Amino acid sequence: MAQKQFSSRTILVITIVIAVLLMVVIWPLSMIGKGSAQSASDADAIYARILPVAKLAYQKPAATAAAGEPRSGEAVYKAVCMACHASGAAGAPKAGDKEAWAPRIATGTDALVASATNGKGAMPPKGGAADLTDDEIKAAVEHLLGLVK
Ligand code: HEC
Repeated sequence: MAQKQFSSRTILVITIVIAVLLMVVIWPLSMIGKGSAQSASDADAIYARILPVAKLAYQKPAATAAAGEPRSGEAVYKAVCMACHASGAAGAPKAGDKEAWAPRIATGTDALVASATNGKGAMPPKGGAADLTDDEIKAAVEHLLGLVK
């Protein structure tokens, strides 16, 4: 009986030692790893690592940015938006069609940029090109608006 009590206490002590080891040594170590993975520079590093794959997946030949440079409104329009807006496909307001654009222009450029970013009706968000930046979307909208001036 005494022997049994002693051995279960030994097990208890060993368990506590392991638990303390886990808390004092292993847990802080795992926190260090997590902490740095969430830092901005690591996020950038991850982004840089997946960028070649992401670019390949979203590549649209004429609109692909060279070395991450923003594409011009015209380049984005030609590569992405023109598919619908040149012909008026799917009910898109046709580029250069003053009548079609007038009521939309009246809502303000910000509202139009928001529509192009979030999608509207048959238009998917960012015209379907998820890799476009906010600046590129804005430039493309401004290019479209320039065509009806
Ligand atoms: C798949 C076809 C398609 C593509 C690609 C597309 N659009 Fe559109 N777009 C539409 C349609 C359809 C509408 C009309 C939506 C409605 O009013 O229901 C529209 C409307 C708009 C409007 C007016 C939104 C409003 O609030 O009235 C803007 C601005 C616009 N598109 C910009 C763009 C830009 C910029 C691009 C390229 C990045 C683009 N579109 C790509 C189909 C498309």
